[in-house]
Amino acid sequence: MDNLTENLNVRPGDIVLLVGKDRKEFIISVEPGREHQTHHGVLPHDAIIGKRWGATVATHLGYTYLILPPSLEQLVRSIRRATQIVYPKEIGYLLMKMNIGPGTRVIEAGTGSGGLTLALARMVMPHGHVYSYEVRPETQALAQKNLAALGLLPYVTLKLRDIAEGFDERGVDAVFLDVREPWDYLPHVHTALKGGGFFGSLLPTTNQVAALLRHLQQPAFGYIEVEELILRPYKAVPGRLRPFDRIIAHTGYLVFARALPGEFNPDLDTRPERFGDPDLTDAAEFIDDSE
Ligand SMILES: C[S@@+](CC[C@H](N)C(=O)[O-])C[C@H]1O[C@@H](n2cnc3c(N)ncnc32)[C@H](O)[C@@H]1O
Repeated sequence: MDNLTENLNVRPGDIVLLVGKDRKEFIISVEPGREHQTHHGVLPHDAIIGKRWGATVATHLGYTYLILPPSLEQLVRSIRRATQIVYPKEIGYLLMKMNIGPGTRVIEAGTGSGGLTLALARMVMPHGHVYSYEVRPETQALAQKNLAALGLLPYVTLKLRDIAEGFDERGVDAVFLDVREPWDYLPHVHTALKGGGFFGSLLPTTNQVAALLRHLQQPAFGYIEVEELILRPYKAVPGRLRPFDRIIAHTGYLVFARALPGEFNPDLDTRPERFGDPDLTDAAEFIDDSE
């Protein structure tokens, strides 16, 4: 087989997305001699190997599945989970906001099921690296399995540690925290980041966002942003084009900041402000500096 034909057809070891007419999806690694069980019959992997991408394959009961290469979004959604994962809509955006690309060195915690880790690894490869910290061994083991299944382990160092003990790396480009109380670890984040480096965090409640903002109000961090993304999927039916009745209405808030030169000052007052206190951030927007 020449190279072109190889790329057009499914090969042993390829990761394949199978989509049934009922829109049930499976992601499998195809291996000679193996079988995939579905509600509509058995699918021998050998029937998939050699098929054209985009073609269909039938189970022994005649039910057909579309053979597609999975997208990064589908891979993230399909991983085995022991924790809530970062949703693809947030992942896609945070990768851009934090300038993650080939060659980036990025720290994340916690690893969880490895949903975000997977996307980070895909973006930083082949020369960048992901340092991913997790405190629970069984969760880390699951993430390791998920990453290994997709051949992404070479781009990730998994560390079993409570990040209260700090990070080993210095001068990294970005740090992302998906933990309940990210403000506790800001001194460690600042120590690990290079000047101007990107900090990001995902938080499910506004209370947590407010707490994080209070702790970020200090000279060691700047360019602070809070954002929320809402995705409304539509029924892709030309004659009845409209959003789905039920959607995931809330995932989380994204907080971003940049590390600035200087020491992190743990003694700054982070108490909640009272209602009526002047909001200096808003006030700054009214300063006319056009002259
Ligand atoms: C919501 S999950 C992360 C999910 C992950 N981002 C993903 O997309 O699959 C949060 C994880 O952080 C871990 N964690 C919480 N506090 C931690 C800490 N101080 N150090 C390391 N890991 C921590 C938890 O054990 C949990 O697995």
